[in-house]
Amino acid sequence: MFNVEEIRKDFPILQRKINGHPLIYLDNGATSQKPIQVINAISGYYMNHNANVHRGVHKLSEESTYMYEEARRKVAKFINAEPEEIIFTKNATESLNLVAYTYGEANISAGDRICTSIMEHHSDFIPWQMLAGKKKAKLEIMNVNTEGEIPDSEFSKISNSKITSIVHASNVLGTINPVEEMGKIAHEGGGKILIDGSQSIPHMPVDVKKMDCDFFAFTGHKMLGPTGIGVLYGKKELLEEMPPFMYGGDMVIDAKVEGCKWNEIPHKFEAGTPHISGIIAMGAAVDYLNKLGMENIRAHEVELIEYAFQKLQGIEGIEIYGPQEAHKRVGVIAFNIKGLSSIDLASFLDDYGIAIRSGHHCAQPIHDFLKILPSARISFYLYNTKGEIDVLIPRIEEIRRMLS
Ligand SMILES: Cc1ncc(COP(=O)(O)O)c(C=O)c1O
Repeated sequence: MFNVEEIRKDFPILQRKINGHPLIYLDNGATSQKPIQVINAISGYYMNHNANVHRGVHKLSEESTYMYEEARRKVAKFINAEPEEIIFTKNATESLNLVAYTYGEANISAGDRICTSIMEHHSDFIPWQMLAGKKKAKLEIMNVNTEGEIPDSEFSKISNSKITSIVHASNVLGTINPVEEMGKIAHEGGGKILIDGSQSIPHMPVDVKKMDCDFFAFTGHKMLGPTGIGVLYGKKELLEEMPPFMYGGDMVIDAKVEGCKWNEIPHKFEAGTPHISGIIAMGAAVDYLNKLGMENIRAHEVELIEYAFQKLQGIEGIEIYGPQEAHKRVGVIAFNIKGLSSIDLASFLDDYGIAIRSGHHCAQPIHDFLKILPSARISFYLYNTKGEIDVLIPRIEEIRRMLS
């Protein structure tokens, strides 16, 4: 059962007042709020189980190791992967860099092509830009059309590339990219595909086997989990071939003066003490999402997108970026209003307890490509309501009249 009023009771922060107004949190693209079940998982771990993982034979270490590996199994099942294909990192940024630094370093040579898109977050743009520069490879950048979608005519850049790294859902345009089709094209051309799922996995069902992607990166804090925890999925056979990312404890099973033998996957990629409490709490976040059902979460957000579009379009001078149809996008809506700076808009909305984002959203190339100013962005999650949109719109109108 998907009941927003009931769901909201699980999120203590939603009871807060900001500047005397009830908090309306519309900055979920940056990070989501956390339900009490996730908060309790962190404190419960420290109160009852705290010990290092994979290192002790004592009870607490056994419990911690079990809980840590159980979280891995939950995350694996959530995306239809095998547990050994799940690497815990500190965020999506680290997951994306991991692929560039290991697979990329080992497989890209001078003259090779690397494909990405103009709508990438800096986390999925700069690692490839840097790798291309270092290896003297060519960075192929797929552009978007006026709808904010990558047209088929750009897909030849995928087939010519050794690796394509593409965002599943844009954090500016909201566009959902046809990653399954892109993966097929990459594979037909003998290349690999990495998907940045940071803005998709919190909001829709994801099945990495069905997508047939080689790598899938995401971040825990946008999907109800704590900060400091990210995930990289990789196909087993690729992870086995790849060199480690960082060296240290736990990633090695035999360390001798003469040389080392690396641990099995996924441990080969998890050097040092991991963010144990965060990973266990990420497991609790996955439980929470499963309980609600990803299809239900998506359906709720599509309704919010449609409703917000209808209302926003009535605002004089507004330009909304990305696809105009709700089913083609996630609940991230970036816009500008003629004569009104997005920073002014965001700070005036804050006076009324409404949290939105303004700026480039760590995606400057798409702003430059579209020749647009830094934008305002509202972004929804499962606890947002149409009632909140009804409060937001007149406030935007009021600020527009006052400032533009
Ligand atoms: C599309 C996309 N990719 C990557 C990231 C980076 O996530 P993190 O900062 O958790 O590494 C973000 C965060 O905003 C994002 O929206």
